[in-house]
Amino acid sequence: MSTSLLSNPVLYREPANKEFFREASIGLLQPQKTLPCKFLYDDQGSDLFNQICDLDEYYPTRTETAILRDNIREIAEVIGPGCRLVEFGSGTSTKTRMLLEHLADLASYTPIDISSAQLFDSCEQLGTEFPALEILPLAADYTDSLHLPESETPAQKVVAFFPGSTIGNFEPHEAVSFLRRIACLCGQHGGLLIGVDLIKDRRRLEAAYNDRKGVTAAFNLNLLARANRELGSDFDLGSFRHQAIYDEALGRIEMRLISLQPQVVRVANQEFFFDEDEYITTEYSYKYSLPKFTKLAQSAGFEVLNVWVDRNKLFSVQYLRVRSDGAVNR
Ligand SMILES: C[S@@+](CC[C@H](N)C(=O)[O-])C[C@H]1O[C@@H](n2cnc3c(N)ncnc32)[C@H](O)[C@@H]1O
Repeated sequence: MSTSLLSNPVLYREPANKEFFREASIGLLQPQKTLPCKFLYDDQGSDLFNQICDLDEYYPTRTETAILRDNIREIAEVIGPGCRLVEFGSGTSTKTRMLLEHLADLASYTPIDISSAQLFDSCEQLGTEFPALEILPLAADYTDSLHLPESETPAQKVVAFFPGSTIGNFEPHEAVSFLRRIACLCGQHGGLLIGVDLIKDRRRLEAAYNDRKGVTAAFNLNLLARANRELGSDFDLGSFRHQAIYDEALGRIEMRLISLQPQVVRVANQEFFFDEDEYITTEYSYKYSLPKFTKLAQSAGFEVLNVWVDRNKLFSVQYLRVRSDGAVNR
């Protein structure tokens, strides 16, 4: 790092968030510039995501919620009594309330989320709604190695909950590795209740990620605003625009921030050059067919026990059981 930059407080500010700085620097140096989607969720990003969930175009939240509501008794029966529930990317834990109400003899609940303020707020609220439940939140990046907080209540098994089709943010090979880690964490007799978005027509998909009110655009652009707040970068938000396109061959929505002009952006002590129309990839959202997701789950050491879908086959909720023989199909 050059001394002249270091000695000039206008040009160089120590990034407040070292992890974000490290990952952003790596991502922006790639031939296809990227910023990891987990950084979309600071306080502002989490608020914006919650607004997205209420949008007319955003079918995943209301469809998954309806599937859970319509099948909750059967879901609770399949999961069985006495489990420790561990949720990945719990957000406001809104959908989880249905499980907390219906699971028999629930031992404890561990919500895991990177958005710590929202996590602790929602746990406080849950504590008043479910005073007898042991709630053990974990503010962490779930892609790091995880040590679950010690529970005082013995459990018969560990069951993970991963709603919101957040599994779609991983590329398929990463999704297999991630699910394998969940299978190890849950162990024998354990399982995973997961929300998986299904392949559907391009128009509906692209509308869901390019809403008319511009909330998804604000959510995406907040990543640059966050970089300015936490990394001291100088992204001009007016010089980038949001776009989400569906790549049918790869079965994924890709969210982008497109540079409207040639420009140079400074992130701490580094400069990044953008051509006009060059873009940063900020999030993938993979969509699956049921057979393709079954294969993926099997590769990760799970067997698919139950699949619930809505009438229009937009979304699925699936219960996967850890294979008792420990076999992993490759
Ligand atoms: C698509 S939202 C889903 C929220 C909620 N589970 C739902 O179904 O509506 C993704 C959630 O995962 C969290 N998240 C994203 N990446 C994460 C990571 N690497 N580690 C922990 N939490 C993460 C976000 O903060 C957010 O709450």
